[in-house]
Amino acid sequence: MISPETIEKIMDTARIEEVIGEFVTLKKRGVNLIGLCPFHNEKTPSFSVSAPKGIFKCFGCGKGGNVVNFLMEHEHYTYPEALRYLAQKYSIEIEEEKPTPEQQKAMDEKESLFNLSAFAQKYFEQQLHESEEGKSVGLTYLKERGFSTGQIKKFGLGYCPGKWDDFTQKALKQGYKKEYLIKSSLSKTKDHLLYDSFRGRIIFPIHNLSGRVLGFGARILTNDKKRPKYINSAESEIYHKSKALYGIYFAKSPMASADNCYLVEGYTDVISLHQAGVENVVASSGTALGPDQIKLIRRYTSNVTLLFDSDPAGIKAAFRGIDMILEEGLNVRIVLFPEGEDPDSYARKYRPAEVREYLDSQAKDFISFKTGMLARESKNDPIKKAGIIKEIARTISLMPEPIARTIYVQKCSEMMKIGENLLMGEINKIRRQKRQRKSSQLIQHEKGPVSVPPQDQMHGEGRPGVEENASQEKELIRLMLHYGGHEIVFEVENENKHTEKVNIRVADFIVQDIESDNLELENSQCQKIFREFSAQVNNDKLPDNKFFTSHEDSGVRKLAVDLLSEPHTLSKNWGHRHKIYIKEEEEDLKPRVLQAIYAFKLKKLEQMIAENRREIKELGDKEEPGAESRLLELIATGRDLLSKRSLFAAALNRVVTR
Ligand code: CTP
Ligand code: MN
Repeated sequence: MISPETIEKIMDTARIEEVIGEFVTLKKRGVNLIGLCPFHNEKTPSFSVSAPKGIFKCFGCGKGGNVVNFLMEHEHYTYPEALRYLAQKYSIEIEEEKPTPEQQKAMDEKESLFNLSAFAQKYFEQQLHESEEGKSVGLTYLKERGFSTGQIKKFGLGYCPGKWDDFTQKALKQGYKKEYLIKSSLSKTKDHLLYDSFRGRIIFPIHNLSGRVLGFGARILTNDKKRPKYINSAESEIYHKSKALYGIYFAKSPMASADNCYLVEGYTDVISLHQAGVENVVASSGTALGPDQIKLIRRYTSNVTLLFDSDPAGIKAAFRGIDMILEEGLNVRIVLFPEGEDPDSYARKYRPAEVREYLDSQAKDFISFKTGMLARESKNDPIKKAGIIKEIARTISLMPEPIARTIYVQKCSEMMKIGENLLMGEINKIRRQKRQRKSSQLIQHEKGPVSVPPQDQMHGEGRPGVEENASQEKELIRLMLHYGGHEIVFEVENENKHTEKVNIRVADFIVQDIESDNLELENSQCQKIFREFSAQVNNDKLPDNKFFTSHEDSGVRKLAVDLLSEPHTLSKNWGHRHKIYIKEEEEDLKPRVLQAIYAFKLKKLEQMIAENRREIKELGDKEEPGAESRLLELIATGRDLLSKRSLFAAALNRVVTR
């Protein structure tokens, strides 16, 4: 355990702006430093670091704290891990207090895995440079491939001997536990015997942002087609493939200064490009590029250039990569390599200056790339051309930034000779459909009820409950007016079974959810406000509250002013608690939004049930042909409505009494 004196020394020495500066690009703004918050998605910086106070704070998502909190949050370190990291960075010697047996036992799994990985990396590296087998087999191979000693050392490459269990035995002797050897997949078991997983392979250590080893890629030395070319570390507490990028530790500052990131496929591509003087390069290594990896890149730059083979597999991967990157709001360009070449082979064939020249001259924006590729297939066939346009519209629709979309629409309309409006219309249609799917998925993920059956289109007076409905509708409008731009967070499970946080603005969420059920607000003022929100939200904007408070319709004006000045329609003696109330509500938005939506839908369901009963009664009095089957239909509908009602009532009860 780290002694209190050491902790004090670490805290006195560590400079928050230096530590955070390793992970976030910070710029001076007055006495503070600001940058893009690494904890939530944003395009304008609201993350601020105060060096004199030793704290950071994000005004967007609210995260804040001291340098240790930052590391714990950002690197998912435990408290001692964060302290050790700082001690190492500032060369402070750690005075250990002897851990108690319980503390020793409690040493968490992650730290053990990190320690084991560090040990393994050193072992493999030493084998490569010092053992006979390592030198004659491993090092010779790397040298023959043209890797320089400098790059081999920089990337900490290694070699695992071909013997059955040399590494495993050494690790056990050093006190590393069998449990962790297996968890890290460095060793495997067969008939109760432990043996080395990476026998006879070249080892590529994979580092995290701060340079700790998370896992390994292990390449075979022969052309044996029957055995896998690479064996990679399995997922573990410290190694999540979807979150790691090979080379990120070495690329982060070059990426920030070049304001661009080259993305390649393999370990060897990264190293060869480094050797050619291109250091702002990372690889997704064996996994399809995912959102978490792109978020990692975004901390340093918002420009990505994909480098791919021009074989069909490479082109397909490039298409997928383009969509992923645009969806995360980054800019993307593409460089294709000549048939049969990858960045590694190209970098070996040509001089460094020629490699850099190739990258600069060949980079295409994604529209030119896609149109070029697809047009090659379609020639001048008009049906195929329509297909290409649709495909490009789909890709543009993924871009979150409306301005960026507009720019690309202009570009595409020029290139494909089609009207901008037509293209924009197509894009907006795709976006609308997608949004509607999304909100119901979010609720579904939390096991909430989603849709209400479509309501018979009957509007106007005489309809039961229109007035009573107003209070539910006003609550929805009130939330949109007050908090439309605030984000609420849902946790969803992605394909890899990891939970992922999805942020969505309150206004977007409400609009999507109501619209995806094809429900309408009935109070005419509420309806007007809602429609304005709907129109704006579909373009990623939000209406200004002033628009409503100075609306031409005096009813809308009055409603907006009422709702904006009243903190909560349901709270009675709010006067003296005004401030406290607002704060609480802001911090507790999601249940309030769900509550409002459920209450609104429940009301709708009740109307539908009343309507259904009325129809059944009316039909019962008649004796018409076909009445009977119509009656059965109505009864079935009624049953559905009742079961929906109890679902929504239970959900409402859950959010209210939670
Ligand atoms: N990969 C993998 N498992 C395989 C093949 C590939 O994990 N069986 C991953 C590796 O991360 C590899 C990347 O996919 O780096 C790209 O594959 P490839 O181009 O085949 O490998 P290179 O690293 O380029 O190896 P080399 O140039 O030595 O053939
Ligand atoms: Mn290769």
